[in-house]
Amino acid sequence: MSVQIVHVPLGDRAYDVVIGRGLLADAPRYLAPHLKRNRVAILTESRVAGLHLDAVQRAFGDISSAALALDPGEGTKNWAGLMQSVEWLLDEKVERRDLVMALGGGVIGDLAGFAAAVLRRGVRFVQVPTSLLAQVDSSVGGKTGINTRHGKNLVGAFHQPSLVLADIDLLDTLPARDFLAGFGEVVKYGLLGDAAFFDWLEANGPALAAGDHALRQYAVHRSVQMKAEIVVRDETEQGDRALLNLGHTFCHALEAATGYSDRLLHGEGVAIGCALAFELSARMGLCPQETPSRVRAHLRAMGMATDLADIPGDLPGAEALIALMGQDKKVQDGRLRFILARDIGRAFVCDDVPSDILRAVLEDALVARA
Ligand code: GLY
Repeated sequence: MSVQIVHVPLGDRAYDVVIGRGLLADAPRYLAPHLKRNRVAILTESRVAGLHLDAVQRAFGDISSAALALDPGEGTKNWAGLMQSVEWLLDEKVERRDLVMALGGGVIGDLAGFAAAVLRRGVRFVQVPTSLLAQVDSSVGGKTGINTRHGKNLVGAFHQPSLVLADIDLLDTLPARDFLAGFGEVVKYGLLGDAAFFDWLEANGPALAAGDHALRQYAVHRSVQMKAEIVVRDETEQGDRALLNLGHTFCHALEAATGYSDRLLHGEGVAIGCALAFELSARMGLCPQETPSRVRAHLRAMGMATDLADIPGDLPGAEALIALMGQDKKVQDGRLRFILARDIGRAFVCDDVPSDILRAVLEDALVARA
């Protein structure tokens, strides 16, 4: 399959998402139009650096580069990680016209993007997402930021990248658990807005997970197309962009309850959250009663986290989980905001979920894990 490009038409912040195999080897060709001088500052993390940094820097040819490899994991996406990144960029004398490259998964993309947003009041940056989650979601759309002790992504900026290079070959080195967690975000796109894509995922998901590159590229391309369409309609999340948060209100509470640890990866929380959002929709009489089972059957068939029972260790009760949802960015005037669905591919924003039904969905899900 040849290289595909999804253009994100955001006026003077427009950019391309390039999707295909072997893109890194060709990086200078893609970077050239964005280089005002021949140097790139690379922010990455040590695990990704061990796998890909040499190859990237070798491919650069006469583009000079410096790299900072941060500690891997969500724990780096905080004030300390931001300070380390920004001070390093200043040590490297990165100027406003220079280019920063985020080489890594969602943590590095969000952190490097935010560092680029605040450095000298904004320098341009390129996303080179190395995880499936980052390729289909976090590298596109310009959300950047860090976590604080109050919760995830509570400090940040909208700062669009100048280019996204989604090299499908990089997914080959992902641990299976990380790949499947990223697949949670892929399924999310089918569930929120494209029933035919969900059908396609049911048919092709297992072969895709087993390593078929053409199927992987199709899934990344379709996901990015959907993300780009939504971002262009609503760049700063005043309306439709909230649909991308299908499953996330539940997910954020579960991540907080598990201490943002590897007991639950973000994409796993999204998958479980999507299943719960469909359960809630069905209990509210909004979507057909059999739809939640179909959603869960696909997640199960993929070997993905599907239910609260798939989260190891203790979880707090329903009331405590609901309290954790109160810290969600989607809360408006103190009201929880959910993305619910009328069926597969038909998500919508809902501000008035009856608390007794929400509590019952969580209590039943917690009982099922006992
Ligand atoms: N990941 C959700 C968004 O970009 O809006």
